[in-house]
Amino acid sequence: MDIQEKIEQLIHFRQEAKLGGGELRIAKQHEQGKHTARERIDMLLDEGSFEEIDMFVTHRCTDFGMESQKYMGDGVVTGHGTIDGRVVYVFSQDFTVFGGSLSETYATKICKIMDQAMKMGVPVIGINDSGGARIQEGVNSLAGYAEIFQRNIMASGVIPQISAIFGPCAGGAVYSPALTDVVLMADKTSYMFVTGPKVTKSVTGETISTEDLGGATIHSSKSGVAHFKAESEDEGILLIRKMLEYFPQNNLEDPIVTACNDPIDRLSDELNEIMPSQSNQAYDVKKIIYAIVDNGDFLEFHRHFAKNIVVGFAKFNGRPVGIVANQPNYLAGVLDIDASRKAARFVRMCDAFNIPLVTLVDVPGFLPGSAQEYGGIIIHGAKLLFAYGEATVPKVTVTLRKSYGGAHDVMSSKQLRGDVNYAWPSAEIAVMGAKGAIEILEGKKLASIIDPEEQAKFFAEKEKEYLDNFANPYQAAKYGYIDDVIEPRNTRFRIIRALQTLATKKDVNPPRKHSNLPL
Ligand code: HXC
Repeated sequence: MDIQEKIEQLIHFRQEAKLGGGELRIAKQHEQGKHTARERIDMLLDEGSFEEIDMFVTHRCTDFGMESQKYMGDGVVTGHGTIDGRVVYVFSQDFTVFGGSLSETYATKICKIMDQAMKMGVPVIGINDSGGARIQEGVNSLAGYAEIFQRNIMASGVIPQISAIFGPCAGGAVYSPALTDVVLMADKTSYMFVTGPKVTKSVTGETISTEDLGGATIHSSKSGVAHFKAESEDEGILLIRKMLEYFPQNNLEDPIVTACNDPIDRLSDELNEIMPSQSNQAYDVKKIIYAIVDNGDFLEFHRHFAKNIVVGFAKFNGRPVGIVANQPNYLAGVLDIDASRKAARFVRMCDAFNIPLVTLVDVPGFLPGSAQEYGGIIIHGAKLLFAYGEATVPKVTVTLRKSYGGAHDVMSSKQLRGDVNYAWPSAEIAVMGAKGAIEILEGKKLASIIDPEEQAKFFAEKEKEYLDNFANPYQAAKYGYIDDVIEPRNTRFRIIRALQTLATKKDVNPPRKHSNLPL
């Protein structure tokens, strides 16, 4: 072969590799409303930035006649490129090749880019669309998964890892995405479960559809496995690009501060009016978030899961932050098992990647009852407490209204190394709400009053006394647990100034192998 022929051969090989499992299977993928592995990469990365690695890799299996069925690339497209000019590594599973199933060499390709991403200190994005372990490869495939899991674990908290689920993701394969920072699912075309409907039926007798067992709606609302449900792959890809604006490239860097055209001293007069007249009335805390962050831009995580707490990314004067806010509009903003788990994971992710935390508090306490106690609210609530106490990033807290009991301590209180703790004049910081307190403190006296009218009058007097004394921010401010009481409309400016001051903050935890987080 002369050089010209060799070059033509190379071009031919490349074309062959780019066809994956062939045109028929590509057409089937499109019919199902799915993009191919390569189309997804093209959509994700800056135009022309993709540099493919290991295009010519093929599997080494000789069982089940596999030696005669080889596809270049072996079912996964790997490489690197840029998103908004910043380098990322990516793997994209190709369902057109053996259903995107994972072989030994396929796993080696993913591990190779994960190792490189760790050396370079840049994010890894995995696009999952796979029938799981390649059945013909047996334990080699299981070993391949475990190699990936080990790398997910080592990369955790070092480089951002983002998983998009754009097709099947079943069996042990779900554990790689579960080990990453963010899981995003495309609605209707993706699912995740440890065991599918058929096995579920034979083991438990339960009849359930794929969608109801592990679709995007279920995982983004009930299980909390998925942080995002995207209406389409296109929307999912845009979300990933957007999300990376808030992450640094790795844990040794700070998130990038961008130019901001929203005035830092913009007053939000409507916030002076936002609190309902009665403290048991609901309002939407997201209105406060939209009012105070740059340009009202808030990227909410877990929007449909544990809605009593709101978490997500935003910017203050161009500086990325993680926001955690109790949501009075849902279950009165109470902390329960799911809310604690959701917020704890978010707080730890922000802390791992040097993303400051802004916490907006309006919490009546922990949700009472046997369901919560049997479910382990003690241990789950402790996760959030632990996460805040362990976090060393700048922590700015604004108490909007209620901050009662243990929940007060948990929500980034001063004693959990809260750096700047503000309160609105509407704040109520106390051991418990007035009603509960009066019933405990005056129980005997109340029982001794026979006349119901007299009893109600006495209760109202005591309630007023309690509210006047405790339902305000000044008891806490008096002890320095609150640094200042601020006017609601000025909240944006005060948070920005606090974050500016805290930008050089250094805090450390004692040396240890690792903490024993209450899992
Ligand atoms: C090898 C596979 C495969 C697999 C699919 N294919 N899954 N090949 N190993 N695991 C092949 C099919 O033979 C077919 O090849 C092509 O991929 C497309 O599959 P279809 O079944 O035609 O597609 P579809 O109807 O869309 O169904 C997709 C599917 C189904 C739901 C994913 O293929 C399926 O149930 N596959 C098996 C899933 C599974 O049980 N995997 C193991 C999970 S346990 P042709 O040549 O016809 O195109 C696991 C353990 C991981 O993964 C452990 C980690 C610790």
